[in-house]
Amino acid sequence: MTSLWSPGDPGTLSDGRTRAAFPDHFLWGTATAAYQIEGSWDVDGKGPSIWDTFTHTPGKVLDGSTGDIACDHYVRYADDVALMADLGVNSYRFSVSWPRVVPTGEGAVEPRGLDFYDRLTDALLGHGIAPVVTLYHWDLPQPLEDRGGWLVRDTAYRFAEYSDHVARRLGDRVRTWITINEAVVISTFGYAFGTHAPGRVLLFDSFPATHHVLLAHGVATQAVRAAVPGAQVGITHNLSPVLPLTGSSEDAAAASALDAIQNRTYLDPCLLGAYPSIEETRIPVDLSCIHDGDLETIAAPLDVLGVNYYNPTTVKAPGEGNPFPFEIVPMTDYEQTDMGWPVVPSGLRDLLVSLKDRYAEQLPPVMVTENGVAFPDELVDGAVDDPRRVEYLRSHMAAVGEAMDAGADVRGFFVWSFLDNFEWAEGFRPRFGLVYTDYATQQRIPKTSFQWFRSFLRGDA
Ligand code: FCB
Repeated sequence: MTSLWSPGDPGTLSDGRTRAAFPDHFLWGTATAAYQIEGSWDVDGKGPSIWDTFTHTPGKVLDGSTGDIACDHYVRYADDVALMADLGVNSYRFSVSWPRVVPTGEGAVEPRGLDFYDRLTDALLGHGIAPVVTLYHWDLPQPLEDRGGWLVRDTAYRFAEYSDHVARRLGDRVRTWITINEAVVISTFGYAFGTHAPGRVLLFDSFPATHHVLLAHGVATQAVRAAVPGAQVGITHNLSPVLPLTGSSEDAAAASALDAIQNRTYLDPCLLGAYPSIEETRIPVDLSCIHDGDLETIAAPLDVLGVNYYNPTTVKAPGEGNPFPFEIVPMTDYEQTDMGWPVVPSGLRDLLVSLKDRYAEQLPPVMVTENGVAFPDELVDGAVDDPRRVEYLRSHMAAVGEAMDAGADVRGFFVWSFLDNFEWAEGFRPRFGLVYTDYATQQRIPKTSFQWFRSFLRGDA
């Protein structure tokens, strides 16, 4: 497939919308995470994180790679920011590495770590790009994991201390803060199934990790607000609309159980101050890690809710002997990405509208903090033509516009990702970037999707 869009064509969305159809203050950006791009894993006093340990353990990452170098962004950040300025975004969501700032997870701060984020922030602002800072995108300091990681309550309070250090350093320039990226992935992949760091396989006994990560969000929110008057603080959840395979009551029950497990277990405590009940999740968990007052802390009103959307999930009733109250059905009728995820733009519209319907006045303004796609991009004659990504973005951004037409209060959209980068347990194979990374040379090659997004942002019509 060659591009349907080519330079010189209008930078429109799939329904013809242009940037002018969105509010002036709308944030248009790209998103990354520290471990996936920075490299420099052991320089300037940085301590090891659980991802350093995990990737250095044979057999954990599909292609045997690590984030030791990744995109070398720690060294090349100024050029990367200049390229972002050329793209024309008005915002950039990046994460801060906890073990770069507090190498052992508690106690002494490493000034060189904070200095890096200070320089990055200034470089962004120098180009008129508003930083959106994520405080935790999965790289827990290894010494804290050695003491139980997210299974222990103390980790939440150490996170609040670290958040205070970052907020006090950057708070005069950073307005928007995301505490935690995707609590569901942290606890499910990291502690229930062990496919992500720290690689623990606790299944239903992983619930304390869920609760302590959410508690960490609550206490870090307090810390950031205390340090930065006027801060806009939120949390980012990875949400997947759950669809029943058929109209049967059994499939409907399976869909509502999975929705309670993977979406509401994270949304409800933050927005309503309560977990869904065990009757709703149909998962037997020990709730004794929840202390009096925790849910009030977790439910402090948010200024913004970050939503990461990749795909919906279809389920049917579980077969005999399945310990889970649902069974996932592959959505093979849809275009598939390089991650094996179905491409369903209408799912993003439906998700944004359903949040408004479900949480009503408890729902703060929303930002789509991640949406994007991996396809097997190839460098041919010095260029990367990625028409499928162009169409993916055009249709998903149009879905955001449709949700806004239906009353959803959406304030921003961040493409995952700026650069091809280290995709966790999948290694370097999946390429999500608007910019192709040639890992052998660290050359950055803007893809056709970059040209399209730039044309959209400039309002070419
Ligand atoms: C999200 C993660 C992000 C990236 C994308 C593809 O779950 O937040 O780091 O891996 O998926």
